[in-house]
Amino acid sequence: MDNLFQYNLDSDPLECFEQWYQDAKKVEENPEAMVLSTVDIKNRRPHSRFLLYKGMLEKKIIFYTNYQSPKSLEIEANPEVALTFYWHKSKRQVRINGLAEKMSPDDSHKYFQSRDKESQIASIVSDQSRPIENRDLLLQKYNEALVTFKNKAVPCPSQWGGFLVSPFEFEFFIYGEHRLNDRFLFQLVNQQWVIARLQP
Ligand SMILES: Cc1cc2nc3c(=O)[nH]c(=O)nc-3n(C[C@H](O)[C@H](O)[C@H](O)COP(=O)(O)O)c2cc1C
Repeated sequence: MDNLFQYNLDSDPLECFEQWYQDAKKVEENPEAMVLSTVDIKNRRPHSRFLLYKGMLEKKIIFYTNYQSPKSLEIEANPEVALTFYWHKSKRQVRINGLAEKMSPDDSHKYFQSRDKESQIASIVSDQSRPIENRDLLLQKYNEALVTFKNKAVPCPSQWGGFLVSPFEFEFFIYGEHRLNDRFLFQLVNQQWVIARLQP
């Protein structure tokens, strides 16, 4: 497809994504911030929130979260998710659709142990997205855990871990002058990436 090279794109969208991410890391303040959208299939309602992109494992996109959180429960019922990156200075957007699955407990635990102690403790004291009467209660739990684990490793809680997203669709978007944006859609069809150029 013409002009793919002009935008540092090649015929493998995972390579394109990696190239764009490396470009973004040079100029953007939060290049790893991405929006994850999931669907609550019972109420037919989408939910979106920012998460941190944590790289790739075997061509799958990694993020970490609480497995009891609303997003995780929605993924359990419907593993089809969307991810969106917006890199303001680069004038680029990437949209990804894929299937999410839980990472192996071993890999989750390994990553958990690489985090700083304060973040580990924040993960063990928070029932993510559940109501709490007041913030002092949370801080008290946090401070008690700091004392408990002062001289010992914090175990990875069973309700915390990674997800891996296997992409089957990518759209690379480049802002154009006069809103004449350029967009490239990659869709996985019979194990092959099919590319189409889209109108703005
Ligand atoms: C820039 C940014 C990065 C975030 N990264 C994460 C993350 O990596 N994991 C996570 O569980 N929550 C992260 N959050 C919090 C989520 O946006 C969200 O509030 C939380 O995960 C609860 O989502 P849920 O109730 O839809 O499950 C981040 C928030 C922001 C603003």
